[in-house]
Amino acid sequence: MRIYLRAAKIEDCRRLWFWRNDAEVRSNSFSGKPIQYAEHKVWFESKLNEPETVFLIGEYLDKPFGMVRLDIYKKNKAALLHISIRKAYRGRGLGSSLLAASCRKAKALGLRKIQAEILTKNKASLNIFKKNNFHISKKITNKQRKAVLVSRLLTI
Ligand SMILES: CC(C)(COP(=O)(O)OP(=O)(O)OC[C@H]1O[C@@H](n2cnc3c(N)ncnc32)[C@H](O)[C@@H]1OP(=O)(O)O)[C@@H](O)C(=O)NCCC(=O)NCCS
Repeated sequence: MRIYLRAAKIEDCRRLWFWRNDAEVRSNSFSGKPIQYAEHKVWFESKLNEPETVFLIGEYLDKPFGMVRLDIYKKNKAALLHISIRKAYRGRGLGSSLLAASCRKAKALGLRKIQAEILTKNKASLNIFKKNNFHISKKITNKQRKAVLVSRLLTI
């Protein structure tokens, strides 16, 4: 599946707000409440300007289909990764491809480790991380929801 990765830009603001408020995205996130556009806009603009954040958009056949955000912990060259795929594009292998491309990008940026927090009920997400050689580092409880922390070293 040939996908293209690009940096998110301010013009993606509304699109990312729609994706963020999708029911499945909310039910698989730790704070499931809907976000108002004004709040999202302030958050997104600040994220775009943060050197510790890498915000990526995946495109397939010239159409944006998903996002990845890397929140970098500078000290140990690691990042926490967040991923979501637009509803109409799920279940076609694009999530797995976007994750793979994002890991390559992270490695090219000099990062050595990627982590993600996944709710244990989120089988599709567990599946794509497993396929991309992530391993469960530990079981966690975040905001009273059962989850796992998955990790992958990018050194090899
Ligand atoms: C999780 C998500 C990113 C996966 O993206 P996707 O494009 O749907 O994933 P893919 O099509 O690449 O792969 C999904 C895999 O999980 C499997 N899967 C999907 N739902 C499943 C379920 N309920 N139980 C078991 N496996 C499931 C699919 O069969 C597929 O595996 P396969 O390729 O071996 O057939 C996407 O569904 C999404 O954006 N969900 C909402 C937001 C979210 O959960 N983000 C992750 C937070 S950690």
